[in-house]
This record gives sequence, C-alpha cells and structure tokens, in this order.
Amino acid sequence: MTVGVTLLGSTGSIGTSALDVIGRHPDKYRVSALSGYRNVGRMLEQCRRFHPERVVMGDRRSAGQLREQCEAHHLDIRVESGEEALPALAREAGDIVVCGIVGAVGLMSTIAAIESGKKVLIANKEPLVMLGGFLMDLARENRACLLPLDSEHNAIFQCLPQHTLVRSHGILEGLEHQGIKQILLTGSGGPFRTLDLDRLDSVTPEQACAHPNWRMGRKISVDSATMMNKGLELIEACALFGVSSDQVEIVIHPQSVIHSMVEYIDGSILAQLGSPDMRVPIASALAWPDRIESGAPSLCLKEVAKLDFHAPDENRFPALKLARRAARTGGTLPSIMNAANEVAVHAFLEGQITFDKITRFVEMTMDKTDNSQDNDLDSVLAADAAARRVCRRIMAGQPC
Ligand SMILES: NC(=O)c1ccc[n+]([C@@H]2O[C@H](COP(=O)([O-])OP(=O)(O)OC[C@H]3O[C@@H](n4cnc5c(N)ncnc54)[C@H](OP(=O)(O)O)[C@@H]3O)[C@@H](O)[C@H]2O)c1
Repeated sequence: MTVGVTLLGSTGSIGTSALDVIGRHPDKYRVSALSGYRNVGRMLEQCRRFHPERVVMGDRRSAGQLREQCEAHHLDIRVESGEEALPALAREAGDIVVCGIVGAVGLMSTIAAIESGKKVLIANKEPLVMLGGFLMDLARENRACLLPLDSEHNAIFQCLPQHTLVRSHGILEGLEHQGIKQILLTGSGGPFRTLDLDRLDSVTPEQACAHPNWRMGRKISVDSATMMNKGLELIEACALFGVSSDQVEIVIHPQSVIHSMVEYIDGSILAQLGSPDMRVPIASALAWPDRIESGAPSLCLKEVAKLDFHAPDENRFPALKLARRAARTGGTLPSIMNAANEVAVHAFLEGQITFDKITRFVEMTMDKTDNSQDNDLDSVLAADAAARRVCRRIMAGQPC
C-alpha cells in the first residue's frame, strides 16, 4: 500500500525537490494532490507525470487555463481555485502534507493540515514565525506529526534524541530534560558576506538571488542575502523546539556542509552533515523514522577539505538583531517583522527599493506598528495586515 502525499506549493523549489524524491519511490508514495499559484506549464508537467486526483491553482485565471490543458491531455483531475480551496485540499487530500508555499499566505493551509492530524512536513517557515506556539499546540491536540524540512531545523531534529521523539510523535517536550544545552544554527552568510558595505545599495535582484551554495525560490534567496532568513529561522527554532532565543546561537559556516548542531550538557556536540541539496531533509522527513534514498550526491569530505566557522557580523546584517528583538518581545512582533519583510523584499525584487533599504524599512515598520502581546490567530492576522500597510506607507514616504 502506498502513502498519499499532498504537496502545497508543488511548482516551487521545495515542491519540485519533494516530487523528485517521491518519484524515486513509487512503491512507497503516490501523489494525491498538488497546489501552485500561477505556473500553469510546470503544473501541467507535474499532472502528466504524477496524476494527482486534485489540484488547486491560487490564481483563478491560471486554474481556468490548467482545466483546459487537462482536458486537452485527457487528464481526469479536479482543478479548483478560491480562498477556501487550499485549506480544504490540505484537510481532505493525502496522508502526508508538504507545506512548500512561500510566505504568510501559507498560514491557513498549514493550520488545516495540522488540524487534520496528518504527518505535516513544513518548509513554509513564515507561519511558524507568526504563530509557532499556536501551531505546536495544535499539533499536540490533534496528534499531528509536524516535521521540519528547513535544512537547519531538520538537521537539529536529526540530532535530538530519536527514541524520545518517536514516542512523542515528533514533538519533544522540555529540551532541558533531555540534557540539551543549546542549539547551534549554522548559516553560510549568503552572497554578500564579504562585499564592501558601501556597495550593498547597488546590488541587483539577480546578484541577491545567486546564493553560493543553495538553489532556492527568489524570496528566500533575498532573505539569505540580508540574513533575515537566519533571523526567521531563529524564531522558527524557538517554536519548533521549545527553546528561548538565548539558547540558539547563530554560527557562520560558509561551506554549508554542517546544517546545524545540538550541544548537550556533557559537552558533546552532535551535527548533521550532507550535500547542500534539499532532497536530503525532504527524504529524511518523508520516511522518518526510517530512511530512504534521496537522489542527492554523497558528500565527499576529502573534497570539502576544511570547515570554517565564525560569529555573524550584526552591523553588516542588522536583520539578525531585529529577529532577536522580535523573538524576545514576542506577541505579534514576529508577525510584524515577517510581514514588513515580505513587502520590502517584493519591492526590491520589483526594482522599487535598493537592497540596503530592505532591513531599514523592516525596522521602521517594527517601530511604528502597534505590537500586541496576544498571540492568537486574529491578533496575528490583524498585525500582519497593519504591518503591510505601514511598510507600504514608509516606502512611499507617507506619514504612518
Ligand atoms: N527553496 C528552498 O531550498 C527552501 C529551503 C528551506 C525553506 N524554504 C521555505 O519553503 C518555502 C517555499 O520556498 P521556495 O523556495 O520553494 O519558494 P518558491 O520556489 O518561490 O515556490 C513557492 C510556491 O508557492 C506558490 N505560491 C506563491 N504565491 C502563492 C499564493 N499567493 N498562494 C498560493 N501559492 C502561492 C508558488 O506557485 P507558482 O510558482 O505556481 O506561482 C510555488 O508553488 C518558503 O517559506 C521558504 O522560506 C525553502
């Protein structure tokens, strides 16, 4: 019997890597449902290869085009669109849900997947940043198994005591009782780690998206270049592993060979190593607690030869300070930071603002948007909307 997998964001970088892993194991997995937004061509390719029962295209026109294409290719697939379609898909289709949508827009479908008590593989970090505590409680209540796909968090997960995790359905309660001292979150430092600071205002979206070690979607690539990605990951780690931000140390490791580490109270540090290829964490989470082949090349340590580590430069990357502030303050501030970042990154990718202004506008939005200590769904959605408004006004030079 095969296990049905639903992939949210299947046309993106995470989605295509996940389908590559699934396609290697037709004896174990089948594709139940897929979702995309506008990329009709790629979705059609995926439909022809994997024959899902259902597809959601977020954009209505794209859904119409896909319907026509499916008919022309004699594919019997239910194609839907509309606001409720995505959460319904996450709830109703598949035994495993892969959350690979980018941004806060993935929040409601992530909630629906967790509520349905499935195995949920989460790459879409923004919902965890916005509402991490709530999502973890929801997973406990519904006995959902929430496994991280982000390479760092998947590495940390692999370095945690597996016997305890298996017993508790993937969620580890009280890290202090497991002898864990701290988490070491590694990051490459992105493409501008050593660039002259006075040249940051002239970098182009193409340069910002050219990550030295990973091939990813455009939004996360820009986040890696500002290191906001590491800041989001800091908050994500606090949510997933129940630690405070002071228990997470960020370490720059330019080779991206060690994907993160866990330090225990006896002085042992456990690390997970591997090629920088998202198929490794995806295969690990898909099969957990078993193992399957991922298709990623083996890591040759003799070729890597040396591993470097150093402290991050918070003056070059102020996003790290902003994320620590958001993590310590809590409430809706992480959502405010995340929403402002989404708006500013989009503006940079559209050529409307320079690269060095992204973090500046995020900071100004954090200063000017009311933060509430409530961390429920309604407060977070209201804060997200308010921060987007404030950030747009700041960018337009209007009073807030
Ligand atoms: N890529 C990586 O290696 C990586 C690693 C770790 C974590 N992550 C996280 O995983 C998530 C996905 O990243 P990615 O790099 O795969 O992004 P991506 O390549 O940009 O793909 C995003 C996916 O989301 C869909 N989408 C975009 N806007 C949407 C909307 N409004 N409604 C519904 N669907 C929408 C896209 O559809 P269309 O393309 O059809 O328009 C696409 O399928 C992000 O949260 C990222 O931080 C990614």
